[in-house]
Amino acid sequence: MSLFISFEGVDGSGKSTQARLLAQALGARLTREPGGAPGAEEIRRLLVQGAAARWSAETEILLFTAARRDHLERTIRPALDEGRVVVCDRFADSTRVYQGARGGAGMREKVDLLHAAMIGIEPDLTFLIDTDPATALARGQARGGTEDRFESLGLGFQETLRAGFLALAAADPARIRVIDGNRSPEVIAQEIEPLARTAIAERAHG
Ligand code: ADP
Ligand code: TYD
Repeated sequence: MSLFISFEGVDGSGKSTQARLLAQALGARLTREPGGAPGAEEIRRLLVQGAAARWSAETEILLFTAARRDHLERTIRPALDEGRVVVCDRFADSTRVYQGARGGAGMREKVDLLHAAMIGIEPDLTFLIDTDPATALARGQARGGTEDRFESLGLGFQETLRAGFLALAAADPARIRVIDGNRSPEVIAQEIEPLARTAIAERAHG
């Protein structure tokens, strides 16, 4: 039975680890944003590398939405249409929170307008991995690599992001489950898997 599950959280929160563990446990199609399809992965490189000020908030929303549209057309929809469970590492909540936090007044409305026009779907279930931002930032930096454009915005920004994700979860508690990320990966996975299985079973029974 198809189900669309996303993972959200600040950089280094441990959401990619949990997305991978859940997809393995369920035999689901694992994918990620920005990216998840060949064209969208090309757009990803433009977004995650280089200086923080490389793009304006407006340009960034357009690039993330373009990548998401490609990902939806080429990867997510086909897998759901085949009846598969899709586990996606980040989706539109990331745009609401990251671009909402980077832009000035009215940015959230622009994000919502573009989402409605170009994407139009939400995950059935979202796990928000809620990890102390300082711990998460240290983990992300320890990982190294060149994909540090957002991490380079610093701890204050990560704290703003955490608050933004928690506000989304408070507004939509039926979809977004807050999971304490300050525990071992195994313990977190043991909490998530039964929640996902329950959602799949509920979908199967109508
Ligand atoms: P994200 O996708 O949120 O950036 P990752 O899953 O890639 O996070 O994890 C970031 C780093 O932290 C990785 O090196 C990973 O092995 C480690 N990590 C993930 N989950 C935990 C955890 N629960 N406790 C400690 N370290 C973790
Ligand atoms: P990701 O690969 O998930 O990074 P990490 O593993 O460090 O969490 O995402 C890359 C960056 O892109 C990350 O800093 C979050 C940001 N991002 C947005 O700003 N808006 C979006 O819509 C998405 C999907 C990601």
